[in-house]
Amino acid sequence: MADVQAIILVGGEGTRLRPLTYGTPKPMVPIAGVPFLARSMERLYEAGITDVILAAGYMPKAITDYFGNGSRLGMRVTYAIEETPLGTAGALKNVAQHVTGRFFVFNGDILTSLDLRSMMEYHESKGGSGTLHLIRVPDPSAFGCVVHDDQGAVSAFVEKPAPGAAPCNDVNAGTYLLEREVLDAIPGGRAVSIERETFPKLIASGKRLYAFVTDDYWIDLGRPENYLTAHRDVLSGLMPLLVEPGITGDGARELRDKRSIVEPVHLDAGTSIDPTATVGPNVVLGRGCWIGAGAVVRESVLWDDVRVGPQAVVEESILASGVRVGAGARIGAGSVVGHGYTVEDGLEVEEGSRLSDRS
Ligand code: GDD
Ligand code: MG
Repeated sequence: MADVQAIILVGGEGTRLRPLTYGTPKPMVPIAGVPFLARSMERLYEAGITDVILAAGYMPKAITDYFGNGSRLGMRVTYAIEETPLGTAGALKNVAQHVTGRFFVFNGDILTSLDLRSMMEYHESKGGSGTLHLIRVPDPSAFGCVVHDDQGAVSAFVEKPAPGAAPCNDVNAGTYLLEREVLDAIPGGRAVSIERETFPKLIASGKRLYAFVTDDYWIDLGRPENYLTAHRDVLSGLMPLLVEPGITGDGARELRDKRSIVEPVHLDAGTSIDPTATVGPNVVLGRGCWIGAGAVVRESVLWDDVRVGPQAVVEESILASGVRVGAGARIGAGSVVGHGYTVEDGLEVEEGSRLSDRS
């Protein structure tokens, strides 16, 4: 698929992931130690797509510094940085001068096992202006509902329907394959939503859009609970990403004493775990994490250089880089702790807390 370009929408502010996204833009949030966007790029590379346009806006430097011109990955990366957010279609119009033909569009926060080559084959067999990847969900209210017939022809697109008012359970899964002419339907010079404006307009004007419904692994990483679920699924192998579930990562090789580990876990290089601690199941420790004597860390993702003091307990939580959890402190389930924050010794952090130095 060397002739197909990809545009990845990475301009959102990641508000639902705050305080993580105060210090790290959503696409650079790590999945088992690697920025999510890097994992997405790898997936494109494997599908033979090497010409990628990143439509960014919020904290773009973290992205441009990491990917540069893409040559390190064997890819060509072009950036478009939006001063003010242009919306999901405005962002595409904004890069029109770089688009030479048929192109994929990716919401930058979707983890999926979707096979891009089979989507391409389906698109070619249908011959429409665009193909939308859909998945079936029990509650579509947080997504875009896509009504289609059993031949796949799309007849309506309803973004975020009111609860109970959803016309169907097949929702927009955030991957589109579009012909270049779709860009002509997007007005320039203002913010435009592809979900609320462009897709409905294309349908109304008689352009043919097709639904590609699959039962792939699929999750939107933009919410803390989904971020943890995604990790659990990656660690268990439900979402195929790590070579072999169990104890994975560079830190696994350095591990001298496995007594403290409850599989599955992923450990990055330089992690230090006291043999009397309990780490796992479903835990990711980033580079240089330190877990003290008798501490318990379960169902949690810790980024780089996090220190968990002796006898502290961390459950079902996300701790950004540089967080310090004091001796005997307890982090209640569903908490998210921002970059460099210190939790005092013995403190009981309530379930579902959001802690950061930025108020
Ligand atoms: N460049 C750019 N500019 N990117 C943007 C902008 C913008 O103004 N606004 C949003 N994005 C990016 C976000 O960074 C994200 O990667 C993607 O577009 C989708 O935005 P979200 O804010 O995550 O939308 P959502 O999750 O509420 O809904 C979207 O995704 C659902 C699937 O998860 C919609 O496409 C729904 O229809 C869909 O079902
Ligand atoms: Mg999203």
